[in-house]
Amino acid sequence: MLQPVIIALDFSTRAEVEGFLQPFSDEQLFLKVGMELYYQEGPDLVNYLQSQGHAVFLDLKLHDIPTTVYKAMRGIANLGVDLINVHAAGGIEMMKKAIEGLEDGSVINKRPLCIAVTQLTSTSVETMNEELNIPGTIQDTVEHYAKNAEKANLDGVVCSPLEVPFIRDCCGERFLTITPGIRLANNDVNDQKRIASPVQAKELGSSCIVVGRTITRSEKPVIVYHQILDMWRKAE
Ligand code: C5P
Repeated sequence: MLQPVIIALDFSTRAEVEGFLQPFSDEQLFLKVGMELYYQEGPDLVNYLQSQGHAVFLDLKLHDIPTTVYKAMRGIANLGVDLINVHAAGGIEMMKKAIEGLEDGSVINKRPLCIAVTQLTSTSVETMNEELNIPGTIQDTVEHYAKNAEKANLDGVVCSPLEVPFIRDCCGERFLTITPGIRLANNDVNDQKRIASPVQAKELGSSCIVVGRTITRSEKPVIVYHQILDMWRKAE
């Protein structure tokens, strides 16, 4: 991975992004562009971030019929992003088509890494069982979806840090585990349910962490980013 701390750019406009990035001066960051920003600003914004030397995780969480995902991924591959994702709930065939689309579209650029969202870190076991009608523990579903992602030849999964140890057991050391739901001791939990600190995430074996509001809503985002990076580097 390019940087162990991915900053989630959960903003709606390019102006907000530029304002946020301005104090980072010439640092090369790993930035996550999610649907809030991409649906407003589109590929131009991704090109802009790349032109500034940043790596991009395009967090669009694709979930559709296999052919549509194939075609979408074939187009997205042209953007030359570093990381992209799908929902594992779309099934193995859909995930295979995602990889195929990325490979077919990566004519000039290297194929982006592709990971699968297992269960959103905002989902509790009650919501999963009662509302989504999926029985069992979060661990059962996450493990099952991670194995499906591996069968489809994806590069890894998005999951909570709490789920990393058993994903390592079933999918091996090289399988990426990208983990949101990161909070410092004094932070609001907000809508997240399965959270951990940067140190816990590293100790549990996360490949890298995704941090949004803890950095983006801070008064001193550059300082908080570096604190988190230091915590990560010092943890074992
Ligand atoms: O502000 P916070 O650190 O909670 O932001 C987490 C980011 O990670 C958000 O952009 C959210 O969309 C994303 N994410 C997540 N859980 C997943 C996948 C992505 O929180 N399973």
